Parts: sequence; C-alpha cells; structure tokens
Amino acid sequence: MRKPLVVANWKCNPTTLDEAGRLFNSVKKGIRNIKNVQVVICPPFVYLTGIKHQRASIKLGAQDCFWEEKGAYTGEISPIMLKNMGCEYVIIGHSERRMISAETDNVINKKLKAAMKAKLKPILCIGETKKERKERTTFKVLKKQLESALKGILNPKSLTLNSLIVAYEPVWAIGTENPCLPTEAQKVLSFLKKNLKNTPIIYGGSVNSANAPRYIKEANFDGLLPGGASLIPKEFISLVKNVSQS
Ligand code: PGA
Repeated sequence: MRKPLVVANWKCNPTTLDEAGRLFNSVKKGIRNIKNVQVVICPPFVYLTGIKHQRASIKLGAQDCFWEEKGAYTGEISPIMLKNMGCEYVIIGHSERRMISAETDNVINKKLKAAMKAKLKPILCIGETKKERKERTTFKVLKKQLESALKGILNPKSLTLNSLIVAYEPVWAIGTENPCLPTEAQKVLSFLKKNLKNTPIIYGGSVNSANAPRYIKEANFDGLLPGGASLIPKEFISLVKNVSQS
C-alpha cells in the first residue's frame, strides 16, 4: 500500500518569511520520526526558496501555476520555474481560485497540461457548492469538472500516482468546521474511482487532527488536504501522527 499523502495548503499565510520558517521547522521537528505518511507543504510562492533548504523528508508544492513556460506574462509563475526550484507538486483549480480569481475550466485544463509537461504532480481540486449538493447534482458537477480539466489528456483511467492526484473538496466544507462526513465523502470517492482507477484521490474541507484518520481508515481516501489545520503546528503534527497510526 502506498503512503497516505497529507498536503498542507497554507493559502495566503503567514505574512513574513520568519513566521513561515518557524512554522515549517516546528512541523519538520514534530513529524521527523513519521515515515509512513508523505507530507507535502504548499506555502505561498515567495516562501518556497526560503524553506526549500530545510525540507528533509517533507516535499514542496505550490498553490497554483501559470500555463506557459516563460515570456511576457507579468506576475505569473510557470511550472518549469517551480520544478527547477525543487517543487514536486502543484495544486490546480482550488475552489478559491475558481471563485475568487475567476479561473475557468479551460484555464484549469491548460494549467494541468503545463504542470504535467513540467513533470510536476498536479493536485486537481474538484468539488460541488452547497447549492449543487442541495440540488443533488454533485456527481454531475464533479464529472464535468473532471472531464473539462482532463480534456486532451490521454485516457484518464491510465493515469497513475506519478501523473495526477485528485482532491475532492466540497466547497461548502472548506474553512467551515463543517466537514463532509466520511460516509458521505466515501460515496463520492466510489463514484470518482469508477472514472479514475489508478489516480490517488484525497479529501479536503475542514480536516482536523480528530477527523483526519476517519477519511483514510473508514472512507479509504489516499490522503488529505488540510488548510486551516496546517497553520497550527501542534494541530498539524497531531493530524499527521493520527494518520500515521490509522
Ligand atoms: P480547510 O481548507 O481545511 O481550511 O477547510 C482546505 C482547502 O481549502 O484546501
């Protein structure tokens, strides 16, 4: 069995490199003896270089990337830049980018292809809104998000751990302390597995140290994508420990 993946999404936090370094070091120290969980930390771009030399067994990821390699694209960061500075993973299509930064399915598809071309492991986020869940269109929405993100990418069923990770992140569960119950999330997982046989599927949305093991043990997810919990060293260390013992 492969190791569960725990991907820390720091989002737009913290506000100084010193704080980022302290957070990273506390986590590194706290999980140093845990070998059966793969931890990935996704800090804001500007802290990637600052913490890359301290990383030990922790892998680095970015929270987004652009779809071109280089050129006249003011403010953008390309996948190859991330790869060249030590990143292995990149989050693509997070619901905050879809909603706040107006990222479309087409943009997500371009970013995914570019990340794969640069040999980064993309973590593609998909998830339904509260309204969509109420209207019972969750599966339809997820299918559409998947299909458009993977458009032009050869047979998604043949994708493996090395090429793609999918994160099921119900939008209504993000940052709310109201996670999708593992039993409910598992129904979605079974649906996704039909379309993505070999692709690891992780869960995100109000994951904490207490509920984390249930998504792995009871619901059979391949990992987790905590946001808020990844900013509190004690909480994040317990989360990783609990996953390692699950
Ligand atoms: P949360 O965020 O754990 O704070 O709900 C998860 C995410 O947005 O990836």
